[in-house]
Amino acid sequence: MKVINTIEQLRKCLAEQRKEGRTIGLVPTMGALHEGHASLVRRSVKENDVTVVSIFLNPTQFNDPKDLERYPRTLEADCRLLEECGADIAFAPTVKEIYPEPDTRQFSYPPTDSVMEGAMRPGHFNGVCQIVSKLFMYVEPDRAYFGEKDYQQIAVIRRMIDDLGFKLEAVPCPVVRQEDGLAMSSRNTLLTDDERKTAANIYRIMKESRSLGLSVQQTHDYVVEEINKIDGLEVQYFSIVDGDSLADVSSWDDAPSIVGCITVFCGTKPIRLIDHIRYK
Ligand code: PAJ
Repeated sequence: MKVINTIEQLRKCLAEQRKEGRTIGLVPTMGALHEGHASLVRRSVKENDVTVVSIFLNPTQFNDPKDLERYPRTLEADCRLLEECGADIAFAPTVKEIYPEPDTRQFSYPPTDSVMEGAMRPGHFNGVCQIVSKLFMYVEPDRAYFGEKDYQQIAVIRRMIDDLGFKLEAVPCPVVRQEDGLAMSSRNTLLTDDERKTAANIYRIMKESRSLGLSVQQTHDYVVEEINKIDGLEVQYFSIVDGDSLADVSSWDDAPSIVGCITVFCGTKPIRLIDHIRYK
Protein backbone atom coordinates (compact mmCIF):
# COMPACT_ATOMS: atom_id res chain seq x y z
CA MET A 1 0.00 0.00 0.00
CA LYS A 2 1.25 3.47 -0.91
CA VAL A 3 0.92 6.29 1.60
CA ILE A 4 0.51 9.58 -0.26
CA ASN A 5 0.44 13.04 1.33
CA THR A 6 0.01 15.44 -1.57
CA ILE A 7 -2.74 16.05 -4.10
CA GLU A 8 -0.22 16.20 -6.94
CA GLN A 9 1.24 12.76 -6.13
CA LEU A 10 -2.24 11.33 -5.72
CA ARG A 11 -3.41 12.66 -9.09
CA LYS A 12 -0.29 11.37 -10.84
CA CYS A 13 -0.64 7.92 -9.38
CA LEU A 14 -4.37 7.68 -10.20
CA ALA A 15 -3.92 9.01 -13.75
CA GLU A 16 -1.63 6.04 -14.45
CA GLN A 17 -4.21 3.61 -13.07
CA ARG A 18 -7.01 5.18 -15.06
CA LYS A 19 -4.93 5.00 -18.26
CA GLU A 20 -4.80 1.23 -17.73
CA GLY A 21 -8.61 1.23 -17.58
CA ARG A 22 -8.77 0.44 -13.86
CA THR A 23 -11.81 1.40 -11.76
CA ILE A 24 -11.28 3.45 -8.62
CA GLY A 25 -13.11 3.16 -5.28
CA LEU A 26 -12.84 5.88 -2.61
CA VAL A 27 -13.43 5.46 1.12
CA PRO A 28 -13.30 8.83 2.93
CA THR A 29 -12.43 8.60 6.65
CA MET A 30 -11.11 10.72 9.49
CA GLY A 31 -8.84 7.96 10.80
CA ALA A 32 -9.01 6.14 14.16
CA LEU A 33 -10.13 3.23 12.03
CA HIS A 34 -12.12 0.25 13.30
CA GLU A 35 -14.10 -2.67 11.87
CA GLY A 36 -16.83 -0.30 10.62
CA HIS A 37 -14.34 1.49 8.38
CA ALA A 38 -12.72 -1.84 7.46
CA SER A 39 -16.05 -3.16 6.13
CA LEU A 40 -16.23 -0.21 3.70
CA VAL A 41 -12.64 -0.73 2.57
CA ARG A 42 -13.11 -4.47 2.01
CA ARG A 43 -16.23 -3.80 -0.04
CA SER A 44 -14.39 -1.26 -2.17
CA VAL A 45 -11.48 -3.66 -2.68
CA LYS A 46 -13.94 -6.30 -3.87
CA GLU A 47 -15.77 -3.98 -6.27
CA ASN A 48 -12.92 -1.87 -7.73
CA ASP A 49 -9.45 -2.39 -9.18
CA VAL A 50 -7.92 0.37 -7.05
CA THR A 51 -9.04 1.48 -3.56
CA VAL A 52 -8.08 4.86 -2.14
CA VAL A 53 -8.75 5.49 1.55
CA SER A 54 -8.44 9.08 2.69
CA ILE A 55 -7.42 9.71 6.29
CA PHE A 56 -8.06 13.34 7.06
CA LEU A 57 -9.38 14.82 10.29
CA ASN A 58 -11.35 17.56 8.59
CA PRO A 59 -11.40 20.68 10.81
CA THR A 60 -14.18 22.43 8.89
CA GLN A 61 -16.83 19.90 9.97
CA PHE A 62 -16.13 20.28 13.71
CA ASN A 63 -18.24 22.98 15.28
CA ASP A 64 -16.88 22.12 18.75
CA PRO A 65 -13.09 22.70 19.06
CA LYS A 66 -12.95 20.36 22.09
CA ASP A 67 -14.41 17.53 19.99
CA LEU A 68 -11.68 18.06 17.36
CA GLU A 69 -8.94 18.28 19.99
CA ARG A 70 -9.82 14.99 21.68
CA TYR A 71 -10.60 13.07 18.47
CA PRO A 72 -8.32 9.98 18.49
CA ARG A 73 -5.33 10.06 16.09
CA THR A 74 -3.83 6.64 15.25
CA LEU A 75 -2.22 6.93 11.80
CA GLU A 76 0.23 4.02 12.17
CA ALA A 77 -2.39 1.54 13.33
CA ASP A 78 -4.74 2.88 10.63
CA CYS A 79 -2.21 2.11 7.90
CA ARG A 80 -1.70 -1.41 9.27
CA LEU A 81 -5.44 -2.09 9.18
CA LEU A 82 -5.70 -0.70 5.64
CA GLU A 83 -2.87 -2.95 4.45
CA GLU A 84 -4.69 -5.94 5.93
CA CYS A 85 -7.88 -4.95 4.12
CA GLY A 86 -6.07 -4.74 0.78
CA ALA A 87 -6.31 -0.97 0.21
CA ASP A 88 -3.95 0.33 -2.49
CA ILE A 89 -3.50 3.96 -1.47
CA ALA A 90 -3.82 5.73 1.87
CA PHE A 91 -4.18 9.46 1.21
CA ALA A 92 -3.19 11.31 4.39
CA PRO A 93 -2.74 15.01 3.58
CA THR A 94 -2.07 17.90 5.96
CA VAL A 95 -4.69 20.58 6.63
CA LYS A 96 -2.60 23.08 4.63
CA GLU A 97 -2.59 20.73 1.65
CA ILE A 98 -6.38 20.54 1.58
CA TYR A 99 -7.11 24.11 2.68
CA PRO A 100 -4.25 26.35 1.48
CA GLU A 101 -6.87 29.09 1.77
CA PRO A 102 -10.01 29.01 3.93
CA ASP A 103 -12.83 27.23 2.09
CA THR A 104 -15.60 29.79 1.71
CA ARG A 105 -17.96 27.57 -0.29
CA GLN A 106 -21.47 27.21 1.12
CA PHE A 107 -23.61 24.13 0.55
CA SER A 108 -27.29 24.03 1.43
CA TYR A 109 -29.50 20.97 0.90
CA PRO A 110 -32.52 21.32 3.16
CA PRO A 111 -34.08 19.51 4.82
CA THR A 112 -31.31 16.87 4.67
CA ASP A 113 -28.65 19.18 6.11
CA SER A 114 -30.81 21.42 8.28
CA VAL A 115 -32.55 18.88 10.56
CA MET A 116 -31.14 16.67 13.34
CA GLU A 117 -27.29 16.76 13.22
CA GLY A 118 -27.55 19.83 10.98
CA ALA A 119 -29.60 21.68 13.60
CA MET A 120 -27.44 20.52 16.53
CA ARG A 121 -24.07 21.10 14.85
CA PRO A 122 -24.34 24.27 12.73
CA GLY A 123 -21.90 24.18 9.82
CA HIS A 124 -21.16 20.46 10.24
CA PHE A 125 -22.60 19.29 6.92
CA ASN A 126 -21.19 22.31 5.13
CA GLY A 127 -17.74 21.12 6.26
CA VAL A 128 -18.56 17.54 5.21
CA CYS A 129 -19.58 18.76 1.72
CA GLN A 130 -16.42 20.87 1.48
CA ILE A 131 -14.08 17.96 2.13
CA VAL A 132 -16.04 15.27 0.31
CA SER A 133 -16.41 17.43 -2.83
CA LYS A 134 -12.65 18.11 -2.79
CA LEU A 135 -11.90 14.39 -2.43
CA PHE A 136 -14.26 13.62 -5.32
CA MET A 137 -12.41 16.18 -7.46
CA TYR A 138 -8.93 14.84 -6.62
CA VAL A 139 -9.75 11.13 -6.86
CA GLU A 140 -12.55 11.10 -9.48
CA PRO A 141 -13.70 7.74 -8.16
CA ASP A 142 -16.12 5.40 -9.93
CA ARG A 143 -17.62 4.53 -6.55
CA ALA A 144 -17.47 6.11 -3.10
CA TYR A 145 -18.35 4.17 0.05
CA PHE A 146 -20.20 5.59 3.05
CA GLY A 147 -21.50 3.94 6.22
CA GLU A 148 -25.17 4.02 7.14
CA LYS A 149 -23.90 4.60 10.67
CA ASP A 150 -24.01 8.28 9.61
CA TYR A 151 -27.40 7.94 7.99
CA GLN A 152 -27.98 11.65 7.51
CA GLN A 153 -24.51 12.19 6.03
CA ILE A 154 -25.37 9.86 3.13
CA ALA A 155 -28.60 11.76 2.40
CA VAL A 156 -26.69 15.08 2.31
CA ILE A 157 -23.89 13.69 0.13
CA ARG A 158 -26.40 12.21 -2.33
CA ARG A 159 -27.95 15.67 -2.73
CA MET A 160 -24.50 17.18 -3.28
CA ILE A 161 -23.63 14.57 -5.92
CA ASP A 162 -26.86 15.35 -7.81
CA ASP A 163 -26.36 19.10 -7.42
CA LEU A 164 -22.76 19.22 -8.63
CA GLY A 165 -23.13 16.45 -11.21
CA PHE A 166 -20.38 14.16 -9.92
CA LYS A 167 -20.28 11.05 -12.08
CA LEU A 168 -19.92 8.39 -9.43
CA GLU A 169 -21.97 5.92 -7.48
CA ALA A 170 -22.38 6.52 -3.73
CA VAL A 171 -22.54 3.09 -2.11
CA PRO A 172 -24.26 2.91 1.30
CA CYS A 173 -22.88 0.20 3.63
CA PRO A 174 -24.61 -1.35 6.68
CA VAL A 175 -23.69 -0.38 10.26
CA VAL A 176 -21.11 -2.64 11.89
CA ARG A 177 -21.96 -3.21 15.57
CA GLN A 178 -20.25 -4.73 18.58
CA GLU A 179 -21.74 -7.98 19.83
CA ASP A 180 -23.91 -6.11 22.33
CA GLY A 181 -25.35 -3.91 19.55
CA LEU A 182 -23.36 -0.69 20.11
CA ALA A 183 -22.57 0.87 16.73
CA MET A 184 -18.79 0.97 16.25
CA SER A 185 -17.44 4.50 16.31
CA SER A 186 -14.04 6.15 16.66
CA ARG A 187 -15.51 8.08 19.58
CA ASN A 188 -16.25 4.82 21.49
CA THR A 189 -12.57 4.69 22.49
CA LEU A 190 -13.22 7.82 24.56
CA LEU A 191 -15.75 5.93 26.71
CA THR A 192 -14.87 4.00 29.88
CA ASP A 193 -15.70 0.26 29.93
CA ASP A 194 -18.80 0.95 32.03
CA GLU A 195 -19.94 3.74 29.72
CA ARG A 196 -19.57 1.43 26.72
CA LYS A 197 -21.76 -1.16 28.39
CA THR A 198 -24.35 1.49 29.20
CA ALA A 199 -24.24 2.76 25.63
CA ALA A 200 -25.37 -0.65 24.33
CA ASN A 201 -28.84 0.18 25.72
CA ILE A 202 -29.37 2.74 22.96
CA TYR A 203 -29.73 0.19 20.17
CA ARG A 204 -31.43 -2.36 22.45
CA ILE A 205 -34.21 0.09 23.31
CA MET A 206 -34.63 1.29 19.72
CA LYS A 207 -34.91 -2.33 18.57
CA GLU A 208 -37.44 -3.08 21.31
CA SER A 209 -39.54 -0.11 20.16
CA ARG A 210 -40.07 -1.79 16.77
CA SER A 211 -41.97 -4.73 18.22
CA LEU A 212 -44.45 -2.91 20.46
CA GLY A 213 -47.06 -1.91 17.86
CA LEU A 214 -46.98 1.77 18.92
CA SER A 215 -47.82 4.89 16.89
CA VAL A 216 -45.01 7.14 15.65
CA GLN A 217 -45.46 9.58 18.55
CA GLN A 218 -45.68 6.76 21.11
CA THR A 219 -42.55 5.13 19.65
CA HIS A 220 -40.71 8.43 19.91
CA ASP A 221 -41.75 8.92 23.53
CA TYR A 222 -40.98 5.30 24.47
CA VAL A 223 -37.42 5.46 23.12
CA VAL A 224 -36.65 8.84 24.71
CA GLU A 225 -38.13 7.93 28.10
CA GLU A 226 -36.53 4.49 28.33
CA ILE A 227 -33.07 5.76 27.36
CA ASN A 228 -33.27 8.76 29.68
CA LYS A 229 -34.16 6.42 32.58
CA ILE A 230 -30.67 4.93 32.32
CA ASP A 231 -27.96 6.59 34.40
CA GLY A 232 -25.29 8.13 32.19
CA LEU A 233 -27.45 8.44 29.04
CA GLU A 234 -29.32 11.53 27.87
CA VAL A 235 -31.11 11.76 24.54
CA GLN A 236 -30.33 14.95 22.62
CA TYR A 237 -32.88 14.18 19.92
CA PHE A 238 -34.73 11.23 18.48
CA SER A 239 -36.43 11.93 15.15
CA ILE A 240 -38.58 9.52 13.18
CA VAL A 241 -38.25 10.59 9.57
CA ASP A 242 -38.78 9.71 5.90
CA GLY A 243 -35.73 7.56 5.09
CA ASP A 244 -35.04 9.46 1.84
CA SER A 245 -35.95 13.12 2.41
CA LEU A 246 -35.41 13.06 6.22
CA ALA A 247 -38.64 15.05 6.64
CA ASP A 248 -40.58 14.27 9.85
CA VAL A 249 -43.37 11.72 9.59
CA SER A 250 -46.41 11.52 11.85
CA SER A 251 -47.80 8.15 10.70
CA TRP A 252 -46.21 4.88 9.56
CA ASP A 253 -48.07 5.36 6.24
CA ASP A 254 -46.37 8.71 5.50
CA ALA A 255 -43.40 7.30 3.55
CA PRO A 256 -42.22 4.05 1.95
CA SER A 257 -39.06 4.08 4.08
CA ILE A 258 -38.97 5.30 7.70
CA VAL A 259 -36.00 5.51 10.07
CA GLY A 260 -35.44 6.75 13.61
CA CYS A 261 -32.28 8.81 14.05
CA ILE A 262 -30.89 9.37 17.51
CA THR A 263 -28.11 11.24 19.27
CA VAL A 264 -27.36 10.46 22.89
CA PHE A 265 -24.93 12.03 25.35
CA CYS A 266 -23.07 9.28 27.18
CA GLY A 267 -21.02 9.52 30.36
CA THR A 268 -19.53 12.44 32.19
CA LYS A 269 -17.35 14.03 29.48
CA PRO A 270 -19.97 13.56 27.79
CA ILE A 271 -19.44 11.79 24.44
CA ARG A 272 -22.07 12.23 21.70
CA LEU A 273 -23.11 8.93 20.16
CA ILE A 274 -25.24 8.69 17.05
CA ASP A 275 -27.22 5.74 15.75
CA HIS A 276 -30.37 4.95 13.81
CA ILE A 277 -32.92 2.23 13.33
CA ARG A 278 -35.03 1.29 10.33
CA TYR A 279 -38.74 0.97 11.03
CA LYS A 280 -39.76 0.24 7.44
P1 PAJ B 1 -15.59 8.83 9.88
O1 PAJ B 1 -16.42 9.09 11.07
O2 PAJ B 1 -14.15 8.47 10.04
O3 PAJ B 1 -16.30 7.68 9.05
C1 PAJ B 1 -15.81 7.29 7.79
C2 PAJ B 1 -16.84 6.39 7.15
O4 PAJ B 1 -16.97 5.19 7.92
C3 PAJ B 1 -18.23 7.05 7.12
O5 PAJ B 1 -18.87 6.79 5.87
C4 PAJ B 1 -18.95 6.37 8.27
O6 PAJ B 1 -20.35 6.32 8.12
C5 PAJ B 1 -18.34 4.97 8.20
N1 PAJ B 1 -18.52 4.26 9.49
C6 PAJ B 1 -18.15 4.69 10.72
N2 PAJ B 1 -18.54 3.80 11.66
C7 PAJ B 1 -19.18 2.79 11.01
C8 PAJ B 1 -19.82 1.58 11.42
N3 PAJ B 1 -19.89 1.23 12.71
N4 PAJ B 1 -20.38 0.81 10.47
C9 PAJ B 1 -20.33 1.16 9.15
N5 PAJ B 1 -19.73 2.28 8.71
C10 PAJ B 1 -19.16 3.10 9.61
O7 PAJ B 1 -17.85 10.17 8.40
C11 PAJ B 1 -16.74 10.70 8.39
O8 PAJ B 1 -15.62 10.11 8.90
C12 PAJ B 1 -16.50 12.07 7.79
O9 PAJ B 1 -17.64 12.86 7.95
C13 PAJ B 1 -16.05 12.03 6.31
C14 PAJ B 1 -17.16 11.45 5.41
C15 PAJ B 1 -14.77 11.22 6.16
C16 PAJ B 1 -15.77 13.47 5.84
O10 PAJ B 1 -14.78 14.06 6.61
